[in-house]
Amino acid sequence: ILIVVVAVVLGLALRPNTDTPKATFVARCKEFKGYDCEKLWGAFEQAYVGRDPCAVPPEAYDPFITAADFKPACNRLMFWSKTKDVVHAFTEKKRDCFLTVEDTVLGSVLNGLTWCGKEGSTETFTTDCPGWRDCVNNTVGSFWNRVSAAFADAACGDVTAMLNGDIDTPFNPTSIFASIEVKRFDSSRVKSLTVVLVTRKSAVTTCTNASLEDLQKELKPGITYNCKDVTEVQLQECSSNPEIACGACW
Ligand code: APR
Repeated sequence: ILIVVVAVVLGLALRPNTDTPKATFVARCKEFKGYDCEKLWGAFEQAYVGRDPCAVPPEAYDPFITAADFKPACNRLMFWSKTKDVVHAFTEKKRDCFLTVEDTVLGSVLNGLTWCGKEGSTETFTTDCPGWRDCVNNTVGSFWNRVSAAFADAACGDVTAMLNGDIDTPFNPTSIFASIEVKRFDSSRVKSLTVVLVTRKSAVTTCTNASLEDLQKELKPGITYNCKDVTEVQLQECSSNPEIACGACW
């Protein structure tokens, strides 16, 4: 009995812990080639560990961005706003065609997680962390702002953005896409931006929408703008047909 008890206790103690942010981070990181995932975690956690969770500016994540060393990717980057589910359902199937930040090591490791530190502690907490609206420099919001800036800096060639055609303002100035990403597209690298305006049920908005005029004004001279109205069904049909070439879905 003693041997069984010792074996069970040891088994429990040594079982890989999958419910801490670190375990999730490292497990997801290992799906990408060429990373020292423990080192990447170290670069990540130094941003917020031991700090007031409302005093973590986006720059605190610079060491993580440097360690992830995300290389410019031409013609494949997919940006989005208010289309989280649709865009990921699409890129999951057309993975070789388009990458969202959540499909790269930059965004995949923390997607859907909450984390923060506390002054005087070396731990990572997952409860009682400030939300996006609670303070400007909150741990989680600053991470997504910084990662989105790095992703936009890597944009090159023809860039795509999936926006929501079921709302009045698909290009919302307060979104990360409008306030950070579009502003960073560099005209010496980015050739064009194609907006794919997706409609689920009732198209409230088409490519003639006023907010999309604002988007065009934000683009640096030299970056060509295109817009396509598509339905979610069209996207689903296209992504489930592997024969259809990249970009031929719209
Ligand atoms: N409050 C809560 N969550 C927010 C907030 C906010 N104010 N802003 C952003 N988020 C989180 C949510 O998890 C949400 O699902 O970011 C996600 C995207 O928010 P959207 O408003 O739909 O889009 P946007 O702000 O434009 O961010 C998406 O940023 O992550 C990058 O490259 C990515 O292009 C994409 C863009």
